[in-house]
Amino acid sequence: MNNNKVFLILGASSDLGLALVRKLNEDYTDSTFCLHYHSSSEALEALPFSNGNRSLLFQADLSSDTDVQVLLDDLAAKELSPTHIVHLCASKMMYTKLKDFDAERLDKNVRIQVYSFVRILKAFLPGMAKRKEYDKVVAVISSVASGKPPKSMLEYTAVKSMLLGVIKQLAADYEGKKVCINGVSPSMIETKFLSDLDPRLVEMAAEVSPENRNAKPEDIVPAIAFLLSEDSNYMNGVNLNVSNGSVII
Ligand SMILES: NC(=O)c1ccc[n+]([C@@H]2O[C@H](COP(=O)([O-])OP(=O)(O)OC[C@H]3O[C@@H](n4cnc5c(N)ncnc54)[C@H](OP(=O)(O)O)[C@@H]3O)[C@@H](O)[C@H]2O)c1
Repeated sequence: MNNNKVFLILGASSDLGLALVRKLNEDYTDSTFCLHYHSSSEALEALPFSNGNRSLLFQADLSSDTDVQVLLDDLAAKELSPTHIVHLCASKMMYTKLKDFDAERLDKNVRIQVYSFVRILKAFLPGMAKRKEYDKVVAVISSVASGKPPKSMLEYTAVKSMLLGVIKQLAADYEGKKVCINGVSPSMIETKFLSDLDPRLVEMAAEVSPENRNAKPEDIVPAIAFLLSEDSNYMNGVNLNVSNGSVII
């Protein structure tokens, strides 16, 4: 039943997150949307909610242990126990070769994408498993962690592969507990995530992709929504390849 859920959407302010929240607001009723952002709440504040749904906004820099703790404390103080967790946070995309390796930058991205996520799951997964109601966890990974990665993505591929490892391990550890822990791995999506890249590189990626175009958020959101829905109750530890065939495993 699509009602009375508590969604915790980490990185709801992402272009993908905003499109996802719009769809979930149509698909669910009487649900609470805990929407996390890092730098700006403007787009989230502008989202209209209907169907008895309500939203609460939470700011946190997930590279900061303190902020992660404040987020957890804030959710606990409001007695919010998520039934559905989506993780979309990441540092902006950049191409990195071996010669560019920057341990500090990589570490920051690992804290944003992996450590904070693990701490948040540590707080909520046991309760989700106890409920035995097919609660859901979905992390947005990337096609770089599925097949052969494109060239010069050393740091990004390293972090996303680590995130994939977390999903696989926790899915194995929680098997049979009626909580579904899965990932979605899209190919390149035209969002603000790419804004620091040379636009010619984005165009080149589009040219070599199957329909000569990069994805739009609307191409990816249905896969995330599916993994959040009851239709995926028999799926656990999956990394859904959403690349229009750019990656075939
Ligand atoms: N775009 C692509 O080509 C592509 C392809 C495959 C996978 N993905 C993955 O899809 C997910 C969403 O990406 P998107 O394209 O929609 O990107 P986006 O719009 O740039 O969103 C990035 C998200 O990360 C958050 N964030 C950044 N730094 C943070 C920090 N220090 N602490 C907490 N949150 C932080 C941002 O928050 P604020 O906006 O509030 O700062 C935003 O919500 C990411 O995990 C990305 O790796 C993207």
